[in-house]
Amino acid sequence: MPRIRHLVSVDDLSISEIQELFNKAKDFSKDLRSWSHLCPGRISASLFYEASTRTRLSFESSMQRLGGGVLTAAEMRTSSAAKGESLADTVRVVSGAYADLIVLRHPSEGAARLAAEFSQVPVINAGDGSHEHPTQTLCDLYTLWIEKGELEGLDVVLAGDLRYSRTIHSFIYALARFCANIVCVPHRGLELPDYVLRRLREEYGAEPVRADASELGEISRESDAVYLTPAKPHQLSLFTDSRRLRVDRVDAVYMTRPQTERHGESDEIESYFQLGQNAMSAKPLREAIVMHPLPRRDEISADLDDDPRSLYFKQAARGVPIRMAILAHLLGCLELQASPPDVRTRLFPIEVGHNPCPNSSCITNTEKRHQRLAFKLTSRDPLRAACGYCSQEIPIRLVGCSTTRHYHPRDSASARRIRPDHLVFFRDEAQATALGFSATR
Ligand code: NCD
Repeated sequence: MPRIRHLVSVDDLSISEIQELFNKAKDFSKDLRSWSHLCPGRISASLFYEASTRTRLSFESSMQRLGGGVLTAAEMRTSSAAKGESLADTVRVVSGAYADLIVLRHPSEGAARLAAEFSQVPVINAGDGSHEHPTQTLCDLYTLWIEKGELEGLDVVLAGDLRYSRTIHSFIYALARFCANIVCVPHRGLELPDYVLRRLREEYGAEPVRADASELGEISRESDAVYLTPAKPHQLSLFTDSRRLRVDRVDAVYMTRPQTERHGESDEIESYFQLGQNAMSAKPLREAIVMHPLPRRDEISADLDDDPRSLYFKQAARGVPIRMAILAHLLGCLELQASPPDVRTRLFPIEVGHNPCPNSSCITNTEKRHQRLAFKLTSRDPLRAACGYCSQEIPIRLVGCSTTRHYHPRDSASARRIRPDHLVFFRDEAQATALGFSATR
């Protein structure tokens, strides 16, 4: 039987698959009504534990345009989740005989990865907390590709709530894979999380440099913009190689709303920046397209709506042909020439009974009954690991070996010698001892 393909992260598709899906989407968009022969009799289930307009409706429209049917659980409060059913059990049931594919939106980071482990059918991540939103990224990349004619080496400004926007996180990993130069202009206090920056550096070779973005005019009001440049710059890169980081011309400005539903008490959002005609008149932005995953609040002023550079409504419309291509591909109804990606980072199960993930909104902490724990090793020296579900760094002071039952300081040579599948992480000695590990003499 062919392996089930899931779309939990943008990394689940290879660059050549993405390009081929874009070509298919372009074909679909010529006449959305003439593809109902592609997936007749297939059913997708929308399991939405969080609010959605565009993502759910465009998935459901896409499935119907492909000739299939949809099951909608858009308000999971009215489902058995309200009776305390776990995500794992819901997924086991829905993937059993009800649906051929699951589209999942969930407030916990890593939820889609957990769902994929329990599902008998493909799972598409339609947003997991502030972690990732890969299909929005495919709409975003598709828009860039249509408008700019290519994806390699573009110069893109990302603005707004970079901390909690899952659309930003998925988009930035994909932009890094396409060797983009990325200028981050966060609202103060809503900068890219450290774990995203670390992942960009360690997994995608993007180098973050703090820089002055004053050339960008009003948009760079916040002084601490961060530039991410490919370690091996693309030849078309517009950044000067001397790292003086002058931005001469930007291809796109991607704006995001404050993700207030995920903000903590310390995340103040007074005077959130508004992008308008004034900001877009700065010289480097004159030819830039304006993008937004929507919904918008006040961060893009209505005076930009009729500007030909504003593409956010087109970007939302393009969600349909793109999602048609994704659905048909994962359902095995499209023959693609491209190969799937190589496995980038292996996940190792955590066997010992404690969860080292510090993220309280990670699915491994919010759903304890069917807990699966896993980590990926992000660096061997110094030894660093990230949660296999939410990608956040696991704080390590001591490292144990599950076969010798000994523990060692993280930076010791003995710790580095432990096989990854034998590694156990501890906060402190008390935790190690409680789990039956002893120090080596
Ligand atoms: C985004 C989301 O849900 O993360 N919306 C969407 O899917 N288009 C962005 C947002 O809510 O701000």
